[in-house]
Amino acid sequence: MTSENMLEKCEKLLKKHNQGHLLTFWQQLDDNQRQSLLLQIQQLDFNVIDGWIERYVKTDTPFKLPISLKPASSYPHQADKGPTKRKYEEAARAGAHLISTGRVGAFVVAGGQGTRLGFDGPKGNFPISPVKNKTLFQIFAETILAASQKYNTTIPWYIMASPLNYQQTLDIFGGSNYFGLKPSDVFIFQQGTIPNFDFDGKILLADKSTIACSPDGHGGSFRALCKSGAVDDMKKRSVEILTYWQIDNPLVKVFDPLFIGLHSLEKAEMSSKALIKAHPKEKVGNFCLVDGKVTVIEYSDLPDELAEKRNADGSLAFSLGSIAIHIINRKFIEKLNCGDTRLPFHRAVKKIPFIDSAGNLVKPREPNGVKLECFIFDALPLATNSVILQTVRSEEFAPVKNADGLESPQATKQMMTERWAAWLESAGAAVPRKPDGSVDCVIEIAPSFAIDKDDVEKKKSRIPEIKSMDRLYLA
Ligand code: UD1
Repeated sequence: MTSENMLEKCEKLLKKHNQGHLLTFWQQLDDNQRQSLLLQIQQLDFNVIDGWIERYVKTDTPFKLPISLKPASSYPHQADKGPTKRKYEEAARAGAHLISTGRVGAFVVAGGQGTRLGFDGPKGNFPISPVKNKTLFQIFAETILAASQKYNTTIPWYIMASPLNYQQTLDIFGGSNYFGLKPSDVFIFQQGTIPNFDFDGKILLADKSTIACSPDGHGGSFRALCKSGAVDDMKKRSVEILTYWQIDNPLVKVFDPLFIGLHSLEKAEMSSKALIKAHPKEKVGNFCLVDGKVTVIEYSDLPDELAEKRNADGSLAFSLGSIAIHIINRKFIEKLNCGDTRLPFHRAVKKIPFIDSAGNLVKPREPNGVKLECFIFDALPLATNSVILQTVRSEEFAPVKNADGLESPQATKQMMTERWAAWLESAGAAVPRKPDGSVDCVIEIAPSFAIDKDDVEKKKSRIPEIKSMDRLYLA
């Protein structure tokens, strides 16, 4: 097709879908810019986009609470006696077997930037370990290396980046020798993007030849895992299960045999870890049951009367908070990619810089448009079975999100020290503590020393005497 024909076809298509303004600056573009813009337009399915505009962009449909909403049930953090104890032992054995036979891969979503932290670049490059200042990427890489050695296997690591940070992420890994991992076992890929709209459903231009787009949310990972070839890589390696976590949580237990084993014994397709919420309105998703299916309802969508509702013993009725730790079967990812299953979009009203009809870049002071995102937990109700395992905050959840205050680097570092102190103490070591009970030194345990409490127990002869104000690093 000649370029004139292509342009004509494109003009017709855009006009039909009310997006003709995308070619406003055509006459001012050079050949490369024209080609790039045509390519961007060709990649969009305008019939589908029309549907999104009607459903999500032009209208702000209020969230409708499902009628059959009930609290979800969960497995307790520990089972001390009886049949549950035996089940947990069996599950832990099954989980360890799956890891050691190479059936488990690691999957982190790392498309976000460190903006809220005031940090330039991929959040995974944020330094966080309390003594050595290792970055999140390095901590997870060393954890995967240590688990591969512990279980005598090779564990591939799938990392989802976004167009905002893909190249930087590749450079970080390339520049640090993949933190000791084999580059062929680290699969870094890009998630998809979605155009940004004004409130009338017009697609915004970021510059005269570029459509304004943003990453499609962590829910985009189902598509991106398939499209990028990550799922094919898993098949080649016989990986059946992914352990999923968010880049901002250095405390996550990436390889938890009990969690993996329970998921597998229950024939679940996607499972989750949960915390007992600290208070009724804690800003985490709520695990609920809707028509018998595990469903996460965002804290902002759960009415106060349900958030505050209590059981006879005083505990919260909706007590299970989502901390974005999941297990996902490869076959479930494949299932969601065949046919037209699409996770619902969530609409975010934002200030989106754009090029106005006169060609000027506008940086709006008030929200001027809509970004659409999918959330990973919206896949839970589509799973034929789904397990929820409770965990303990101090053991597994210390996300670093804000520059100061709640979920700040300082708070995360303190929680890391506290968790490692508890591991050392459970192995019989004495850790100096202040009168208020907090640890009176700084501790960092490298994954090469221990990836869980039991590893510390086995190496207790190597724990030195710890004095107040020490900066202890065990590797
Ligand atoms: C999220 C969860 C919340 C959970 C909390 C736990 C949502 C809507 N909320 O909140 O239920 O309790 O974490 O810490 O998810 N990411 C991508 N691509 C994207 C968007 C995000 O890879 O397009 C990644 C980020 O890099 C990050 C993770 O997803 O690892 C979470 O994103 P973020 O926007 O930080 O979620 P939160 O609002 O903190």
